[in-house]
Amino acid sequence: MTTTPTAPIDITSPAYLDAYSRINGMVVVGEGLADRHFRLLGRAIPEDGPELDRLAAMEGRHATAFVGCGRNLGVKPDVALARQLFAPLHALFLEYDRQGDLPACLVIQGLIVECFAVAAYRHYLPVADAYAAPITAAVINDEGEHLGYAEQWLQARIVAGDQAVVASVAEASRRALPITLGILHHLAGDLTAIGMDPIEVLASFSELYQQALEAIGFEAAAARRILAGAAARAL
Ligand SMILES: [Fe+2]
Ligand SMILES: [Fe+2]
Repeated sequence: MTTTPTAPIDITSPAYLDAYSRINGMVVVGEGLADRHFRLLGRAIPEDGPELDRLAAMEGRHATAFVGCGRNLGVKPDVALARQLFAPLHALFLEYDRQGDLPACLVIQGLIVECFAVAAYRHYLPVADAYAAPITAAVINDEGEHLGYAEQWLQARIVAGDQAVVASVAEASRRALPITLGILHHLAGDLTAIGMDPIEVLASFSELYQQALEAIGFEAAAARRILAGAAARAL
């Protein structure tokens, strides 16, 4: 249940458009990075290369579609701020990619970024303008598919007893989750300005990440500890 008042949002107000430029920048940059990350994963996992290139292409189309959502409102995405906010997460992905730590790469893009996207888009959907709403609804389904790919890959290895994968998932979560929570914290004011409740986004993200960890084979208590540890470090 949401406590957000249902007052209509004026999508033509300067305050709305100003906040939208930063949120739209995050979305466009995030989708562009997702495209790059899935292409890198496609090279690192050659047996799934065509599948991962297909997921990357979906992300590229998401970026283009959301640029269109901004253009429809006469807004240019603030990509400079977004690149700055995403930089630590992207750097961490590249670090794990260089080390050949595939599970950690899949945690960052396939679990964390995808859960973040699903949570944010789900809460944007009810307040989205008529142009952006159907685009957002379609994208939510796609992100669910991306999350499913990463879950399956990780789950298969954890079920097979690969303890190195378990350790990688825990470690990548420990390092990447506080960065993600920091991004959300930074955007809280802008999310509120476009009619979203940042607390609801955080709650949904935590719920989705908990579910993802359980889906790949973590005990519920272990998953809760990982999330609680990240929340403590993000304070
Ligand atoms: Fe996407
Ligand atoms: Fe995605």
